[in-house]
Amino acid sequence: LMVDDAHGVGVLGRTGRGIEEHWEMPGSVDVLMGTLSKALGAVGGFVSGSKDLIYYLRFFAPSGMFTTSLPAAVCAGLLETLRLIRSEPEHRERLWSNIRYFMPALRNAGFLVPDAVSPIGTVFMGTHTLMLEFSRELFDAGIKCGNVMYPAVAKGESILRMTLNARHTMQDLQVTVDALERLGRRWGILHRSPEEIREIGARVRLRRGDDPPWGAVS
Ligand SMILES: Cc1ncc(COP(=O)(O)O)c(C=O)c1O
Repeated sequence: LMVDDAHGVGVLGRTGRGIEEHWEMPGSVDVLMGTLSKALGAVGGFVSGSKDLIYYLRFFAPSGMFTTSLPAAVCAGLLETLRLIRSEPEHRERLWSNIRYFMPALRNAGFLVPDAVSPIGTVFMGTHTLMLEFSRELFDAGIKCGNVMYPAVAKGESILRMTLNARHTMQDLQVTVDALERLGRRWGILHRSPEEIREIGARVRLRRGDDPPWGAVS
């Protein structure tokens, strides 16, 4: 069993150890990998597994063998982050209290938001055209979010990726929910099914004509 715990490390579980701690199943994942770029706030990644596997990867994983190792300053920052994850749980607690407020608030506003199991709130947008226009208007309102479309998700399954952190205040979250709700109402996508949202999106043209290379089909 191999798990990419990119969104779990530092965040999930009582002490932030990730998905295994979350499910109280320590040692159940054979190959546990993750990134150092999310909760840990740097770059790079890691793989943990059996001694034999790690020995093998050291020699045969091209992304490890044929690339420069992480700069010392980044490693020092990461060590400090790991120390903070262990010794200052209040950041994680604040993050989860933000998540517990924000995701239901979006759902109550009428967006399609799956149950939160991470600091990533995904808001269903369907077509990439609706997602990009919606996202641009959100940006104009002062809110930056990720845009996820094909090939990261299937065509017609585009989502906004709203990433929360422990430093967001209640006011930040409320302003964000209000802005999303205002735009959602204007685009007519609140309290709609995925099919209805896709139908609305099918009529949207990108203002700047910056369709991705596979054309206006997603
Ligand atoms: C599940 C998952 N795995 C891996 C990555 C890649 O992480 P990195 O950008 O640090 O390579 C991401 C990035 O968003 C991710 O969401």
